[in-house]
Amino acid sequence: MIEKNINISYQEFDSLNELSKQDVEIVQLAEKNLANSYSPYSLFKVSSLILFETGETVLGTNQENAAYPSGLCAERVAIFSAKSTYPNKIIDTIVIVTEHSNPTPFSPCGGCRQVLMEYEMAQKKPIRAILKSGDSKVWIFESISAFLPFAFKADHILKKV
Ligand code: THU
Repeated sequence: MIEKNINISYQEFDSLNELSKQDVEIVQLAEKNLANSYSPYSLFKVSSLILFETGETVLGTNQENAAYPSGLCAERVAIFSAKSTYPNKIIDTIVIVTEHSNPTPFSPCGGCRQVLMEYEMAQKKPIRAILKSGDSKVWIFESISAFLPFAFKADHILKKV
């Protein structure tokens, strides 16, 4: 038997002011977009922004439904819209924000991690994630794989010929 370990690295910033000018801009855009969340059931607004390498941005918010499972998280709304509009562009960064306070920024749900991972693997380039809750703390992960180290991947199901 061999004991194995994985090490997850991320950066924690005490305040948005410690980020680059472009990162501050995209986080603020995502925060402004919280107003567009449709979340009458949970009252938990989430907003997400996709930044492509080419500079285009696409926004999304969580969209809920009286039939609860029919709703969708902000991250998936944003990334599905982004990839539907610009299918061949490379994603640089995803921003995920809420207005709710928590000592640590909240990170994407399992379903969203799997979806984000799909596009990271397809583009063969890491997608950076910037997370911020209502508090000032900001977390930056250099890759989605940090959230989902044992992801189920396409090469697990694709036939090798
Ligand atoms: N939600 C997101 O938008 N993203 C996540 O990663 C977790 C949860 C939404 C879904 C639902 O509208 C609300 O937050 C409460 O779960």
